[in-house]
Amino acid sequence: MSSSSTLSRPLSALAQHVATGLRQTPKALSSMYFYDDAGSRLFQQIMALPEYYPTRAEFAIFEQHGAAIAEALRPAVNGPFALVELGAGDGSKTKVLLREFLRTDADFTYAPVDISAGAMSGLVNGLQQEMPGLQVAPVVSDYATALSQLGSRPGSKGVLFLGSNIGNFAPADRLSFLRQLAAPLAPADRLLIGFDLQKDPRRIRAAYDDSQGVTAAFNLNLLTRLNRELHADFDLANWQHFTDYSPLSGAVRSFLVSTRAQQVRIPALDETFQFAAWEVIHTENSFKFTLPQIEELAAQAGLRVVDTFTDADTDFADVVMAAHE
Ligand code: TRP
Repeated sequence: MSSSSTLSRPLSALAQHVATGLRQTPKALSSMYFYDDAGSRLFQQIMALPEYYPTRAEFAIFEQHGAAIAEALRPAVNGPFALVELGAGDGSKTKVLLREFLRTDADFTYAPVDISAGAMSGLVNGLQQEMPGLQVAPVVSDYATALSQLGSRPGSKGVLFLGSNIGNFAPADRLSFLRQLAAPLAPADRLLIGFDLQKDPRRIRAAYDDSQGVTAAFNLNLLTRLNRELHADFDLANWQHFTDYSPLSGAVRSFLVSTRAQQVRIPALDETFQFAAWEVIHTENSFKFTLPQIEELAAQAGLRVVDTFTDADTDFADVVMAAHE
């Protein structure tokens, strides 16, 4: 048995994830770990980029159809309800809906869930300033924890899952996530999911490889995080960001590319990883959808589509769903 203190200490979730991801072929790491506080700030910069259309498109949908969306999202029974948002981030789009619910005197509590404590305190402080009457019950957690808490939360709910975050799941995981999300919903509860739609493939690709290099910095920040939290020695000069989009699969894939043969030591795992020249770490999928695919996904998850809202250019869709009676 090893007596090394490094090995006898229980590994963090991040360390376990990295061990599994970098031992497999091809190597892969989950985009969930992009969102440390620095990563969440970089993602806010991405949302403001000229090339990154999804945030603006979804914002335009909320601005244009806010009253109708709030009406469709409000649970179909009287009484108080919780508005639960998975992956709330900076809440810039949700604020449009929150104002709409406040304006119509809805009796509700906003429960944002986000993996970044920094993003969450920024959101909550902002809301207290901007909407003093709003009841907020923030939760800092990942999706898996949020799903299990949703199951034990009593009362009516409207659940928000915006920004096409649903596109970040691999197809099989997407369906099982949606089924788990649907399971605790009563027929009167509502679920609003944002889907980025298939469009000009060049526009999609540019959204994930912007000219200012912010998306590259966001992807590379994952290695900085491993250097800081696991004391790894990734040399960022030997890595680059690469993205492709396939109109056939509908997937944008993001990679970190090793630009030379190199090895990386991760003391927290007591392990050294070999990277061949041009070997990649797959870090993200961002699936783009068609409206028929969304209908099919809802049906497979046992949900019915209540209402679909799109922007004028049909770049993005916000779809309200419910469990069957
Ligand atoms: N949920 C975002 C999306 O799929 C996350 C994201 C935006 C992202 N740009 C990225 C993830 C670049 C990895 C790389 O649009």
